[in-house]
Amino acid sequence: MMVEKIAMQAEEFRLLKEHVAESLGLVLEDGTRNNLAGKLCHRLEELRLKSFTEYYCYLKFSPGRDAEWQRLVPLLTNNETYFYREAAQLSVLAQEVLPALKERKLARGERTVRLLSAGCSSGEEVYTLAMLLLESGCFSWDWDVRITGIDIDPRVLDAARQGLYTRRAFWAADPELVRRYLKPQGDKLAIRPILRKWTSFVRGNLLEPGDSLVGGRFDVILCRNVLIYFAEETVKRVVDNFSALQAPGDYLFLGHSESLSRTETPYLPLRFPGAIIYQKRE
Ligand SMILES: C[S@@+](CC[C@H](N)C(=O)[O-])C[C@H]1O[C@@H](n2cnc3c(N)ncnc32)[C@H](O)[C@@H]1O
Repeated sequence: MMVEKIAMQAEEFRLLKEHVAESLGLVLEDGTRNNLAGKLCHRLEELRLKSFTEYYCYLKFSPGRDAEWQRLVPLLTNNETYFYREAAQLSVLAQEVLPALKERKLARGERTVRLLSAGCSSGEEVYTLAMLLLESGCFSWDWDVRITGIDIDPRVLDAARQGLYTRRAFWAADPELVRRYLKPQGDKLAIRPILRKWTSFVRGNLLEPGDSLVGGRFDVILCRNVLIYFAEETVKRVVDNFSALQAPGDYLFLGHSESLSRTETPYLPLRFPGAIIYQKRE
């Protein structure tokens, strides 16, 4: 059936843009109005709404708004990711952070390690972390290790839990490691059970992670290629949320094009060749 095209007025775009920024943190660029209208036309049709003002009200006030957000989020987010993304940072994690973390934990008589991939998309970062930790040899099986992935988009979380990837997802990964930790399944590669033991995925919003990460404490948080889509004040809010989940001395990794240099936060930059990471102040 042909879906009738409904135009989105500038004021309607402004309302939706504001609501999306408040709810998800994402900034909709001004040039995306027609594109967004095109993506949402069939929703207006299905909901029998006549305008984007009505859609805005539906999203804000209707009892069905939570379900509608779940439909809307995949249309707005960029889920681009792959295994071993930003290798220089991952080397710092393997060579500097994990050994320091192990030493700190042993000095306190603790054997727990908690990592969070915030904005984990379809799971490539979470499984990369599991591979990295296993390869590091820092944490034997008597350590209680957990790597949690959190994302707002239910569709990518389903893919993450399934753990089935096309070969394209491994272009930056060492083929030997790919052979060790994934097995061929049809024309794809499937995560081996050893990577599942430490990993799990939850749905949650980084602006309000409370419910999804209740009581969580994370030695290392990676939030890479997520904040780049957020407004500056939202970045501060998200980083404050991370700080509430971390103790002094814990680590935060952002993407290479993301920086806290313009934001007042409790984190200090640590500079390494080709990579900057952050550590929460003592
Ligand atoms: C470009 S991917 C980054 C994936 C991975 N971190 C990486 O660097 O390869 C950004 C992810 O952030 C998620 N995201 C965006 N806004 C979010 C929010 N408010 N709460 C949780 N996840 C969010 C998106 O759904 C998307 O999967």
